[in-house]
Amino acid sequence: MTTDLEKIKQREWFYSFQLPDGSSSKSYGNGELDAIHDTRSQMLDAVLAEHYPHGVTAKTAVDLACHQGYFSVHLANAGVESVLAVDARTEHIEDTQLISRVMGHSNIKPLQSDVHLLDTEALGTHDIVLCFGLIYHLENPIGALRKARALCKDVCIIETQVVPGMNGNVDWGSYRFVKPLHGVFGIIDETWETHGPEASITGICLAPSTEGLLWILRNIGFSRVELLTPPDGAYEQLKFGKRVMVAAYV
Ligand SMILES: C[S@@+](CC[C@H](N)C(=O)[O-])C[C@H]1O[C@@H](n2cnc3c(N)ncnc32)[C@H](O)[C@@H]1O
Repeated sequence: MTTDLEKIKQREWFYSFQLPDGSSSKSYGNGELDAIHDTRSQMLDAVLAEHYPHGVTAKTAVDLACHQGYFSVHLANAGVESVLAVDARTEHIEDTQLISRVMGHSNIKPLQSDVHLLDTEALGTHDIVLCFGLIYHLENPIGALRKARALCKDVCIIETQVVPGMNGNVDWGSYRFVKPLHGVFGIIDETWETHGPEASITGICLAPSTEGLLWILRNIGFSRVELLTPPDGAYEQLKFGKRVMVAAYV
């Protein structure tokens, strides 16, 4: 009979998981994406270390768009009490269950759901909410960020692809009502790739500009919003601000 560990080793994963026997799971394209996950892990650890100098034990977390559970496992390894791991794709939820079993993390609770459909009242609030690699795959990114805010009682860390910004003033119906632009969304087409494991489930994607994202977070109920600085040697997209990571505090 094939063991869970053998099942993991037989295929390629989006992530290079450090497995309990000392080996790692084979990741896409011989590890060509590992650098982005490493940079994001480092940036996540830096925020948590600064915000929780005594560690994350007894903190609860939510990992929105958990995919195969990489960041859920990362948080569980760091000692969080529990992680609610949410993804729209059933196959990712099954993989998160498999990985959690092998890692011995019974405190990771996978939940299959579209982020927009989460019943935030029933799920309650959690200290740490992760929203990595998600909002630029959505046609309602603000709705998803509102869900993240509703689930969050302390810090929400958002990581996203961003588009070039635009600023200036807009005549809002007439020159007498001039409004400043607070950012923009870029429309990106994933309509032909909704089968892709990392893609949108509906196909029409709105990716924010950095300024727009910061403005939205401040206006949906976060009291402090910080754009995080990538570390030396960061993955190129984070280094050059084509993706950003933001910590938003309740
Ligand atoms: C680029 S991957 C990011 C995965 C992971 N958070 C990370 O950053 O490594 C996008 C993920 O979002 C999930 N996803 C896409 N649309 C979603 C939705 N409406 N609700 C929940 N998850 C969704 C996909 O299934 C996929 O796991």
